[in-house]
Amino acid sequence: MEDDVQEQTLEQFKDKRLGGWGILQLTAGTGLAVYAMWAGVLMPGFRRVPLKLQVPYMPASKKQVGNVMSLLKGRSGGFADLGSGDGRIVLEASRQGFSPAVGYELNPWLLRLSRFYAWKAGLYGRVSYRREDLWKVDLSGYRNISIFLAPSVLTLLQEKLLVELPEDALIIAGRFPFPDWTPCRIEGQGVDRAWAYSIEAIRKQNQSKDIQSSEKSS
Ligand SMILES: C[S@@+](CC[C@H](N)C(=O)[O-])C[C@H]1O[C@@H](n2cnc3c(N)ncnc32)[C@H](O)[C@@H]1O
Ligand SMILES: *[C@@H]1O[C@H](CO)[C@@H](O)[C@H](O)[C@H]1NC(C)=O
Ligand SMILES: *[C@@H]1O[C@H](CO)[C@@H](O)[C@H](O)[C@H]1NC(C)=O
Repeated sequence: MEDDVQEQTLEQFKDKRLGGWGILQLTAGTGLAVYAMWAGVLMPGFRRVPLKLQVPYMPASKKQVGNVMSLLKGRSGGFADLGSGDGRIVLEASRQGFSPAVGYELNPWLLRLSRFYAWKAGLYGRVSYRREDLWKVDLSGYRNISIFLAPSVLTLLQEKLLVELPEDALIIAGRFPFPDWTPCRIEGQGVDRAWAYSIEAIRKQNQSKDIQSSEKSS
C-alpha cells in the first residue's frame, strides 16, 4: 500500500506532470511542509536543540513585563533572561538599572530584532543578546534571572537551576510556575502572573522533603 503510493508519486515526478502546486500538496501530505515551517520559519537556530526542549516564541505582555520588574525590585547588578525573544524584558531590566543585562536566544531573527530595539531605545551598548542555547549556558554567575518558557521544560529547568545557581539567586517565572517549587512572591493575575523563587528557600524545601521521605521509608 505505502509502497504503491510512493511509486505513484515517483512516477509523477518522472513524468514532470507535477507543478509547484502538486509539490506543495505532496509535501503537505507527508508532513514535510509542517516540518519545514517549524524548522525554517518558526524555530530557526534550533536545529541542535532536542525537539521536546524547543519552546516557541511568545512575547510577554506589558503587564507581564511590569510584574517581572516589580518582583525584581530592590535588586541590582547583573540580570539574565533565558529565551529573551525580542528582548523586551532585557531592555526593561536595563532601564531599571540592571547591568549587565543579558538575553539568551537562539532564533537569529529575534536576535536581530532585539538589537534593533536596543539601538532604537538608545541602550545598544548597555544590553547584550547572546546566541546561545540556554540549556548549555553556565548559570552559576547569575543571581537575577527571568524565564518565560513552556510547562513541558520547567521540570528539567528546575534541576539545572538547583545545581548551578548561587544561594542568593532569585528566579522569576512568567506565565507558568515551576511545577515543584513554592514561590516566595507572586505578582499579577491570570496569564500575566509572575512567580518569584529564592534558590535558598527552594534548597531548604528540597532538604526537608528529603528528610520527610527518608523518615517515611524507614
Ligand atoms: C515564550 S518566549 C518568551 C520571550 C521573552 N522572554 C518575552 O518574555 O517576551 C520563549 C523564547 O525562548 C527562546 N528559546 C527557547 N528555547 C531556547 C533555548 N534552548 N536557548 C535559547 N533560547 C530559547 C525562544 O526562541 C523564544 O523566543
Ligand atoms: C543580582 O542581585 C543581587 C541583589 O541585588 C546583586 O547583589 C547581584 O550583584 C545581582 N547580579 C548578579 C550577576 O548576581
Ligand atoms: C533535591 O531533591 C532531590 C530528590 O528529592 C534530589 O535528587 C536532588 O539532588 C536535590 N537537589 C539539590 C540541589 O538539593
